[in-house]
Amino acid sequence: MDDALFAAARSAMEQAYAPYSEFSVGAAIRGADGGIYAGCNVENAAYPQGCCAEAAAVSAMVLAGERAIAEVCVIGAGPALVTPCGGCRQRLREFAADHVPIQLCGPDGLRKTVTLGELLPLAFGPDNLGDAE
Ligand code: THU
Repeated sequence: MDDALFAAARSAMEQAYAPYSEFSVGAAIRGADGGIYAGCNVENAAYPQGCCAEAAAVSAMVLAGERAIAEVCVIGAGPALVTPCGGCRQRLREFAADHVPIQLCGPDGLRKTVTLGELLPLAFGPDNLGDAE
């Protein structure tokens, strides 16, 4: 993982709005064209309306005109690995192939690299709709 991707995710984590869980998360996506798009979690007093960091990063990427994910970095504190939630795995799958690396980080750096295919095996994606009648 390059330093710029990690730095973008860590900066995003510092902007998180997480007064309820007090668990700040940052995510950064490197697009196929090399651009980096970041997001942070934004919680809400109506709890289910909160938004994950990965979802925000996907929105930033699409807003910029990018449609292909080359690499993802997710960062959060605490002793456990911070992995994307189930819903965000599916959101990433829309724009990322199985082989895309997901860099799971703590504030001090990389903890583990996994692929999207490992996080979401046998995924349903855009290709599944290709030949649908
Ligand atoms: N969260 C993320 O933003 N991304 C993850 O990968 C895991 C969880 C957020 C959602 C909520 O605001 C807080 O972390 C605690 O679940």
